[in-house]
Amino acid sequence: MENKAQIAHRCLLLENKAVTGDWFLLTLQAPLPLQARPGQFVQLRLGPGTDPLLRRPFSIHHEDSIAGRLRLLVRVAGAGTARVAAFVAGQEIDLLGPFGQGFPYPEEKAKALLVGGGIGMAPLYFLAAQRRREGLPFDFLIGGRSAASLPADAYFREHRLEPSLATEDGSRGFRGTVTALLEHRLLTGPQPGRIHACGPLPMLARVAEIGRARGIPTHVSLESRLACAVGACLGCAFPFHRDGAVEYRRVCRDGPVFNGEEVCFES
Ligand SMILES: Cc1cc2nc3c(=O)[nH]c(=O)nc-3n(C[C@H](O)[C@H](O)[C@H](O)COP(=O)(O)OP(=O)(O)OC[C@H]3O[C@@H](n4cnc5c(N)ncnc54)[C@H](O)[C@@H]3O)c2cc1C
Ligand code: FES
Repeated sequence: MENKAQIAHRCLLLENKAVTGDWFLLTLQAPLPLQARPGQFVQLRLGPGTDPLLRRPFSIHHEDSIAGRLRLLVRVAGAGTARVAAFVAGQEIDLLGPFGQGFPYPEEKAKALLVGGGIGMAPLYFLAAQRRREGLPFDFLIGGRSAASLPADAYFREHRLEPSLATEDGSRGFRGTVTALLEHRLLTGPQPGRIHACGPLPMLARVAEIGRARGIPTHVSLESRLACAVGACLGCAFPFHRDGAVEYRRVCRDGPVFNGEEVCFES
């Protein structure tokens, strides 16, 4: 699937609010709808000058394409994302996108299991909201370290999403990792048609392993440091299995969503 032309958007930041800990929710008014698919991302410019030179990628957390509103959920990871956290309402935000191949959707009517680790819930929220709107069945599992590391229940109510939560310290929902919750769900519930996951690499490796062991097709959204984001520099290349050999694919253009069985997690 080829990307449609990426467009530069000068958006108005309507709101930037703290969600929990170091997570921020940005609501942007775009001049034109991006008509993004869940799993696609945008590249945000962080300031007017050349420092930092590179834009930063963020998944689309939600798009209301009728109102032209876009949401990004951002976790502060370093200097660039700290700048995003300090953006104020009324500011103009320069973004490019949408980029990449999203989750295969709606590829089937069967139930999907969406599995998010930490900030990895960002693109899955968009997928869940879309499936919810179209009446496609799904279960949404989200894991975090503790109760305080995840958004409050009210956050999910807006789109009538009721995720099952897992926390490593047991302070909210299931006690354990989200992959342990996934295994528990597969043991006790019906087999889903597909698993979609986003989160840290070791978590994605485990999800792919669980999917493979049970014969459930699994799609994972990978992260890599991006530069050009259009497939030209190969800076985001990631190893994949192909016919007994290893080949490199570009996270920005061939992904970020890939068939979990093909990802070479062990390298
Ligand atoms: C396709 C894609 C979608 C993403 N979606 C989101 C999102 O919805 N919300 C969100 O909060 N973040 C998201 N990220 C991650 C986000 O882009 C990085 O956290 C951000 O670029 C870090 O910039 P920084 O200047 O704050 O940190 P830096 O100072 O550049 O780095 C801080 C630390 O984070 C590590 N790091 C930086 N970028 C990445 C990366 N891409 N992958 C792995 N480690 C990295 C660095 O090695 C370093 O340890 C996404 C990344 C990709 C590739
Ligand atoms: S970031 Fe340049 S090819 Fe992906």
